[in-house]
Amino acid sequence: MAKSQSKEKTVFFCTSCGNESGKWFGRCPSCGEFNTCSEEKVRESQKGTKRIEKLSEESAPVPLSKVISDRDERIESHIKEFDRVLGGGIVKGSLVLLGGDPGIGKSTILLEVARNLSNDGQRLLYVSGEESLSQIKMRAKRVGDFSDSLLLMAETDLFVIEEAIEKTGPQLVIIDSIQTMFSPDVEAAPGSVSQVRESTSILMRLAKSKGITIFVIGHVTKEGNVAGPRVLEHMVDTVLYLEGDRYASYRILRGVKNRFGSTNEIGVFEMTGSGLSEVPDPSGYMLSGRPEGASGSVVAVSMEGTRPILIEIQALVTRSNFGMPRRTAVGIDINRVNLLMAVLEKRIGLKLSEYDAYVNITGGMRMNEPAVDLGIVMAIVSSYKDKPIDDHLFCFGEVGLSGEVRAVSQADQRIAEARKLGFDKCILPKAALSKLSKESLTGIKPYGVSFVSDVVKLF
Ligand code: TYD
Ligand code: MG
Repeated sequence: MAKSQSKEKTVFFCTSCGNESGKWFGRCPSCGEFNTCSEEKVRESQKGTKRIEKLSEESAPVPLSKVISDRDERIESHIKEFDRVLGGGIVKGSLVLLGGDPGIGKSTILLEVARNLSNDGQRLLYVSGEESLSQIKMRAKRVGDFSDSLLLMAETDLFVIEEAIEKTGPQLVIIDSIQTMFSPDVEAAPGSVSQVRESTSILMRLAKSKGITIFVIGHVTKEGNVAGPRVLEHMVDTVLYLEGDRYASYRILRGVKNRFGSTNEIGVFEMTGSGLSEVPDPSGYMLSGRPEGASGSVVAVSMEGTRPILIEIQALVTRSNFGMPRRTAVGIDINRVNLLMAVLEKRIGLKLSEYDAYVNITGGMRMNEPAVDLGIVMAIVSSYKDKPIDDHLFCFGEVGLSGEVRAVSQADQRIAEARKLGFDKCILPKAALSKLSKESLTGIKPYGVSFVSDVVKLF
């Protein structure tokens, strides 16, 4: 008996996606990443009779109609952008993962949340496995004033943390970061896939059984033996990522999974000398410093979740000196740019294969919505013809392979956002235009287009 209890086996994990394999791999068969294999020893779980006893008490199956649904109780962090991404506040008893590159501002934003909640009288526990208490204090000084209901702890042993939670009874716990935490039950080193998973499941159990909200920070790791946040995405209730350009001061908080609200909402922040501050008007922020009367620049509207954002798309199309034209894209998928250039070449005969093209979304934003296609097309044509586009014009629409301009959703919201910023001319899909009411077009001169050739005629 004793022998079977301590049965160990060697497992190979992918540190990027958590894929488990019986043998070593150079490239993960699941996510395709190279050099992410990590060898770990795991103890096989013991099967016992205890489980049956538990079943009768807490987890006996019940019909749906008998389930008592306590409405998600939410706590507001008073950081509007943060609450919005979470779907209207922090849900009590949820486990939230905050991922992002090292140094992007994860500890800072959660410390700000802790500041606001502690000033509201909530009991909080901030556990850091990365920084000493005095380092946290230095950061806290920049961020503002805290009340004494926030307790700090520098610890990495989850058993000790669990005990501290029992003793101090916090309503919200912040774990900074999951890669530094370990459970003495698991032999693998902190940061390994099995350790990170075990630590997360301990935290999950704590959150659910005690109704404590737990925030877990996870660093995005490029390669090596440290497991990345993707490994635990499926275990937690909500996954947020804080992203941004290292060299730009703005940061975007994006929800990628949310059991209590919609995903793809974004929150925009700016890193300042005193922490992260909210950017309530991201469109205005993204468009600041826009050149006037320059060719190759156009404003497009993209929906990020429920919120429209205006962005400037720039293109520089110049004659190529080599047989193979250069194409680069910043902020959008390069394949999308190549595809749209091929459409322009084939459908309206622009000789783009002889030209280099550089396409850029200014402000360092990344956009994936197909509705920015029309903006990319317009920027390329404008630069190719060297004709500037009206400063007060904006556009949106998806472009298909036949060169057709297809309707996109939420046209009225996009127009309303642009109107707020003083735009008065709009190029949009004809199909979307026919569905718009008169009111939503107040003060806007619309140009409906159905093919890319219609767009080119406007120049
Ligand atoms: P941090 O929150 O420590 O990043 P993470 O926890 O994601 O690793 O943020 C670190 C960066 O933020 C660091 O480069 C300094 C900068 N920063 C400011 O610019 N202003 C501030 O008020 C604070 C607290 C940090
Ligand atoms: Mg940190």
